Amino acid sequence: MGLVSACSQESVVEPVKEKPAMQEKNGIDIWPRLNVEVKQTDEIESRIQEIMATMTLEQKVAQMIQPEIRDITVEDMRQYGFGSYLNGGGSFPQGNKQSTPEDWIKLAEDLYQASIDDSLDGSTIPTMWGTDAVHGHNNVIGATLFPHNIGLGAANNPELIEKIANATATEVMVTGIDWVFAPTVATVRDDRWGRTYESYSEDPEIVRDYAAAIVKGLQGRAGQDFLSDNRVISTVKHFVGDGGTVGGDDQGDNVASEQALFEIHAQGYVGGLEAGAQSVMASFNSWHGEKIHGHKYLLNDVLKEKMGFDGFIVGDWNGHGQVKGCTNGDCAQAANAGLDIFMVPTSAWKPLYENLVRQVNEGIIPMSRIDDAVTRILRVKLRAGLFEKPSPANRKFSGKTELIGQKAHRDIAKQAVRESLVMLKNNEALLPLNPNTHILVAGDGANNIGKQSGGWTITWQGTNNTNEEFPGGTSIYDGVKAQVSAANGSVELNENGDFFKKPDVAIVVFGEEPYAEGHGDREHLDYQRGQKSDLALLKKLQKQDIPVVALFISGRPMWVNQELNNSDAFVALWLPGSEGSAVADVLFTDADGKRQYDFTGRLSFSWPNSPYDAVLNKGDEDYSPLFPYGYGLSYDSKDTLGNDLSETYEELEAFSTGKKIFTGTMQKPWVLLLSEGDKEELVVASTASLGTLSYRTIDKEVQEDAIRMTLADATVPSGLKIASKSFFREDISNELLNKSSLSFMIKPESAITEAVMLNMSCESEGDAPGSCRGSVDITENLKAMEKDKWHALSVDLQCFSQQGVDFSGLVVPFHLLSTGNIQLSVSDIEFSFDTADSASIKCK
Ligand code: BGC
Ligand code: BGC
Repeated sequence: MGLVSACSQESVVEPVKEKPAMQEKNGIDIWPRLNVEVKQTDEIESRIQEIMATMTLEQKVAQMIQPEIRDITVEDMRQYGFGSYLNGGGSFPQGNKQSTPEDWIKLAEDLYQASIDDSLDGSTIPTMWGTDAVHGHNNVIGATLFPHNIGLGAANNPELIEKIANATATEVMVTGIDWVFAPTVATVRDDRWGRTYESYSEDPEIVRDYAAAIVKGLQGRAGQDFLSDNRVISTVKHFVGDGGTVGGDDQGDNVASEQALFEIHAQGYVGGLEAGAQSVMASFNSWHGEKIHGHKYLLNDVLKEKMGFDGFIVGDWNGHGQVKGCTNGDCAQAANAGLDIFMVPTSAWKPLYENLVRQVNEGIIPMSRIDDAVTRILRVKLRAGLFEKPSPANRKFSGKTELIGQKAHRDIAKQAVRESLVMLKNNEALLPLNPNTHILVAGDGANNIGKQSGGWTITWQGTNNTNEEFPGGTSIYDGVKAQVSAANGSVELNENGDFFKKPDVAIVVFGEEPYAEGHGDREHLDYQRGQKSDLALLKKLQKQDIPVVALFISGRPMWVNQELNNSDAFVALWLPGSEGSAVADVLFTDADGKRQYDFTGRLSFSWPNSPYDAVLNKGDEDYSPLFPYGYGLSYDSKDTLGNDLSETYEELEAFSTGKKIFTGTMQKPWVLLLSEGDKEELVVASTASLGTLSYRTIDKEVQEDAIRMTLADATVPSGLKIASKSFFREDISNELLNKSSLSFMIKPESAITEAVMLNMSCESEGDAPGSCRGSVDITENLKAMEKDKWHALSVDLQCFSQQGVDFSGLVVPFHLLSTGNIQLSVSDIEFSFDTADSASIKCK
C-alpha cells in the first residue's frame, strides 16, 4: 500500500503546453509599476549623458561584455575596457584555491587600473567585479559561511537576514570586489530541482520579504548609506520563473500562466527591486518554450517598462548562447530583447564583442538599444560612486583581513544556524540532551564542514574541500564536543557508529552530498534509494538500545520515512555552513540542566509523504504532506509522530524502469558526442560527422527515436559516446540497485567484420577523467543477430564494476566503438533494475 496522494501523482504529469495570452495591451494589470526607493537624480542623469557623448561604439559595447577571470588578461582589460568581469563558482585569482585576500585585491586593482588606462583604445570608465557571494563570501577560504537560503527561510527572520547580507558585503569588500550575484529569489515549486536550497521558500511571501531585507543588507538603505563605501551592488536572480520549471529541470521550461508567473515567481523582484537592487540576472530557463535571455516581452516590456526597473539586466553564464539562433559568440537577439550585460565566461567574449559591434553597424541592433544598456550600466556605476571611490586596493575595508571570518560575523551565522533547525520528531522528549553523559557522534556528516556547507562552497559544487580549508569554522561534532566537555561529559566520534564505551545517546549526522545547479537535479526525493547505508547505521544503534538523534543535512525536503521511524529524534539541519558548532547549542541543556535555546525553525517547504511528492506546495488542492508548511516542533510541543510511518509507496511507472539515458532524446544529464580516436565533438544536430564517422538520427517507432553510426574505413576506434554534461562525475550508485544492467536496442545494418566494444568510464574522487574504465566485447552478440532487425542487448553492470568502474563517479555510461566499415543503430539506452540475471552478457 502506497501513501501516494492524488497530489503527488500529479507531480509527475507534465502540464500541457499552452501559450498564455500576453498582457501587452489593455490587459489586466498583472505587472504593477514598482515603488522603487532609489530615485533618479538630475545630477546622475546628466553625468551619464556627458560620459556617453565621449564614447565610441566599441567602448560602449565593451561595457556590455562581462568576461571571466580565467579567460582574460590584464592586457585584454587595458585594450578593451570591459564594463565588468566575474569569477565563477570555484574560480580564483591565478586559479589558486588558496588565494589570500591580498591575491584577490591585487587582481582587482590590476584590472581596475587597466580599465581606466586610456593609453590604448579602451575607455576610462572604472570596471567592476561581480562574484557569487551566495551564502557569505563563499569563494574565499576563511570567510564566514552562512546557512544556505533554504535554512534561512526556515528561520523566517528578515532582520537577521539583513545582518547576514551586511556581513557578507563587508567580507566581499575586504577582497576589493564591488558586486555580488545575490540574492536568488526563486520560489521553488518542484523540490527535485538542484537549486532548491538556493530558495528561501515555496511560498512567495517569504521570498518577497527576504529579497528586500537582503538587498538592504548588501546595498544599504536608500537615503541613508545606499551604496556608500561599506556596501556592494546586489543582483536579484534569476529573472524569472527559474524555480518553476517542468519536472524541476535546471534551465528548463516554466509553463506557468502569466498571472502565476507574477504571483508566485516574481515576488522576489517586487521586494528586491523596491528596496533598490541595481541589477537583475536573466534566467537560463524558458517560459512556454522561449528562453528568457531572448524574451523581449519579459525583459524589456515587463521588467523595464511596466515594473519600471532602471538598473541593468546581466545575463547568466553564456545563457544568451541558448537563445534560438544564437551561439555564445553571436547573439544580437539577446541585446535586442533587452539584455544589458552579456556574461560570457569563455573565450567567446571576443567574437561576441566583434559581432555586437558589427551588428550595430549593420543596423541589426539599433544604436538606441546600446545607448539604453550603457545608460543603465553607467547609472549603476555612478550610484555606486565608482568614479569617486578610491581604487579597489584603497577602499575602506580592502585588505582588512581581520574582517573576514570575524567573530561578530560568525556569531550572526551561529544565530542563523540555531534558528534554521527544524525539529521533526522528539519521541519521549529525548531532546534536549544532558551534556553530562557519554555521547557517540556518528555519520559521515558529523565532522565534515564541506558536507554541512553544500554547493557553492569554495568550489562550485562544494566538493573536494577538507576541514582544514575552513579555518575558524566548526563541524557539528566540534559543537557537541564543546558542550559535553564543558559539562564534564564524554564523547566518542566514530563515523560507522562503533564505540569503546556504550553511549547514553548517539547523534547521527548524515545526508546529501554537496551539489550545485543541474548536478543536483533528481528524479525523485527518496533519500539513498537502493543503498540505505545511513538507515542501516540508525538501525544498528537502535538495536543496541541506544537512543538515536538523527541530524539530517539536505538541500531540500526528502522522503525519509524509514530514517524517521528508526530514530528517536530527528532534526532537519538544511545546509548550515561553516558554523556547525551552533547545532549543539540547541541540542543540549547547560551543565545545570537548563535549556539554552529552543527550536524555532519552521518548514518553509512542505515535507513529502512519498518520493514523488516533489510538487507539493502550501495551498495546493489535495494537499497531503507528511509535515505541512510551517511545521516544526518546539521543546514544549507534544510529538505524536510515532515509529510506524508508511515505508512503502506506489512505484510510479515513469520511475520503475531505472535510469534512462537515451529514449529518443538524450536524458539529463547525458549528452551525445562523436568520437574518433582522441578527437570528439558534441552532437547538436540530427546529422553530423567526424573524420571517418558519420551520424544521423533515424526512426524506430516514432520520428528520430534512434541513432545511427556509420564508419567508413576507420583506422582508429570510433563511434558514439554518451557522457555527462561537462564531463562532471554523476553519482548513480544510489539509484543502481544490485543486479542492474545496461540495456539497449541495437540493429546491425552491415556485416560485422571488426570487433565492436562497449565501454564505460568514470572518474574517482581525485582521479583524472577516464582513469577508471571498463570494456565489454559485444562482437559475437552482434554477429549472432539478424541484420536490419532490432534486437535487445543488455550487459550486467558487474562486467564493468569488476574492471573498476565506480558508479559513484560515472562520466561515460555508454561508448560504442569499432573500426573499419560498419553501420549500427541504437535506441532505448537505459540502466534497468533487477535485470542482471537475465542480461545477454553476464559476469559472475
Ligand atoms: C549561475 C548563476 C551564477 C553564475 C556565475 C551561473 O551558472 O546560474 O547563479 O551567478 O553562474 O557564477
Ligand atoms: C562556474 C560556475 C558556473 C558554472 C556554469 C562553472 O565552471 O564556476 O560559476 O555557474 O560553471 O556551468
